[in-house]
Amino acid sequence: MAAIGATGRGGVNRQALSPEDGAARARLMGWAKARGFALFLDPIGNMFIRRHGRDKDALPVVAGSHLDSQPTGGNYDGVYGVLAAFEVLESLEDQVIATRRPIEVVVWTNEEGSRFSPTTMGSAVYAGAIPLADALASRDRDGVTAGEALKSMLAQLPKTESRPLGSSAHAYVEAHIEQGPVLEGAGKRIGIVSGIQGLRQFTVTVTGEEAHAGTTPRARRRDAFVTAHAIVGALARLTADRADTVRFTVGRFEVYPGSPNTVPGRVQFMIDLRHPDAGTLARLGDRVFATCRRHAAPCAVEVREMLHSKPVSFDPRMVARVRDAAHRLGLTSLDMVSGATHDAKYMAGLCPTGMVFVPCRGGISHNESEWAAPEDLAAGADVLSEVVADLAAE
Ligand code: HGY
Ligand code: MN
Ligand code: MN
Repeated sequence: MAAIGATGRGGVNRQALSPEDGAARARLMGWAKARGFALFLDPIGNMFIRRHGRDKDALPVVAGSHLDSQPTGGNYDGVYGVLAAFEVLESLEDQVIATRRPIEVVVWTNEEGSRFSPTTMGSAVYAGAIPLADALASRDRDGVTAGEALKSMLAQLPKTESRPLGSSAHAYVEAHIEQGPVLEGAGKRIGIVSGIQGLRQFTVTVTGEEAHAGTTPRARRRDAFVTAHAIVGALARLTADRADTVRFTVGRFEVYPGSPNTVPGRVQFMIDLRHPDAGTLARLGDRVFATCRRHAAPCAVEVREMLHSKPVSFDPRMVARVRDAAHRLGLTSLDMVSGATHDAKYMAGLCPTGMVFVPCRGGISHNESEWAAPEDLAAGADVLSEVVADLAAE
């Protein structure tokens, strides 16, 4: 999979609904067909690979993650959870083990939210948190809509049976690299994930007036960059905390027209704000609007909230299943909350949901040097397999 979208610098650029995303899904579909598994696609392009169970009416156990990546993504974020889940199906086949329940591997569309906003788009639409039409209308920086990109990607795939949004699941389990330094720092092999911190994403558009850099006195300017810079500085101060638990990031900052001798008439930037406590996230997130307004003059500022996903706690019985499986396998473990967001946050509202973390080197992710040890990845897949097989038997 890492060959698809490989950047040549050790990582991948396999952005959502791109030809690379399509090629990765086509490759997985080929493996699934070779195994005789059934394939389904829903209207936002979430893909389901189904291994039948004895009881065809039983709700499936679902496991999976995403294949899309950041522009300078690593070889493990998302794809590990998809391949570990697929490996569970293959090993059940190899051992000729029939399960009562069907098991489905899911590939969520656009988990990263880099090309099309917001992040976790496919699972949000699946869960009804975002209307399908809104998601399909989201545009990338070239003005291509997610709907157009989805259509082109589907043309790359073999003809596949469709299914409606929100197909029910008995339970959902996702394996993922931690993407942070906690497990490695604690010297533990398996993260028992109790929940996911909250996340709010905003797009801020500052509108001033283009002007000549040489002739226009600064007192007469409506310089969108100077205003945007003041806003970001004020937000950084607002969200600063000694405990370093608030996560405030401006990862995209675009200056128009981007000419060195024209005063910027427009700046658009995105804010990614996270915190494990719902109240703190609500309070800080709500102050984004007032802070932008306070520093707007002499420009105009528009703030759009793209996503507000509250902190999520997983069903304690699922957390216990992951912990028991890790201990049965003699693996060291640590209970933790996920700093990264995941599609599991939406599944947690629909069915018992759990996550299995494995360490990644230096806690580095969303970076081409992202790496995880094969023995840790295998350990995580073993835990996933134990939990999924138990759920599929009940
Ligand atoms: O942004 C996130 O937390 C995820 O890795 N896309
Ligand atoms: Mn991910
Ligand atoms: Mn990611």
